[in-house]
Amino acid sequence: MTRPRSSLAHQASYALRHPHKVIPHLRRLARDTWLRLHSRDHIAYYRAVMRSDTARSPEGAVGSHTHKRWLALGQMQFDYLLEHGLKPECRMLEIGCGNLRAGRLFIDYLHTGNYYGIDISPDILMAAQDTVADHGLRDKLPHLTPVRDLRFAFLPDEHFDVVHAHSVFSHSPLEVIDECFAHVGRIMRPGGWFDFTFDRTEGKEHQVLREDFYYRTETLVRLAGQYGLDAVFMDDWERTPHKQSKIRVTRRA
Ligand SMILES: C[S@@+](CC[C@H](N)C(=O)[O-])C[C@H]1O[C@@H](n2cnc3c(N)ncnc32)[C@H](O)[C@@H]1O
Repeated sequence: MTRPRSSLAHQASYALRHPHKVIPHLRRLARDTWLRLHSRDHIAYYRAVMRSDTARSPEGAVGSHTHKRWLALGQMQFDYLLEHGLKPECRMLEIGCGNLRAGRLFIDYLHTGNYYGIDISPDILMAAQDTVADHGLRDKLPHLTPVRDLRFAFLPDEHFDVVHAHSVFSHSPLEVIDECFAHVGRIMRPGGWFDFTFDRTEGKEHQVLREDFYYRTETLVRLAGQYGLDAVFMDDWERTPHKQSKIRVTRRA
């Protein structure tokens, strides 16, 4: 069984194999500890992490350390969804849309006004506006909205054909995912689906710096089931070079 990344043994052996990463990790640890002590809950904490990361580089803040990777990661998400049912007439909600790494492609493909991006970080949403302008997408009138939770209280019943969350639950404690599952069924159209990625572990569930969370597939499938949602592990996503896994959720008939 692999050791959780949070274990001392894992961290010591990782440090020996990658000595150049030790100082940046310690810097991140110090910053994150400070931010956590000054935040009332996980969302406020993660919003502060995003503020700090976005100030340095919006593309880095969503996890891409080069522009080439930013383009490739967006394309990968887009191609997969296109092969798995996305049509121009779909109404799409993207949870944690970031600076539209994939969103720019969804916006371009969908009919005008059919893309709705939400995020807890106002800073990354401002970077998302730059992406809209830089990629000539103004006429598509995407909605970009800051949120403080995943209750979707301001969104209408049975509205979205597709809900998408890439690399969001990998940064979320279980109570945030629970809140999302409790409410997402209401805004999904019958026959609609919700795809999300997560950091999968086959061992003990754990987190690193309260930034990265690792779950077992069965934990998320069971949780979805508690809210009348059927969850299916997407095997073919495992063939992509992306490190996370993907689950598709539908409303139970
Ligand atoms: C790693 S980035 C990925 C962004 C985008 N999905 C992509 O693939 O480029 C994670 C994004 O999710 C947002 N986020 C994290 N937790 C969230 C939550 N509970 N609700 C909404 N957005 C969240 C972050 O602010 C950040 O923009």
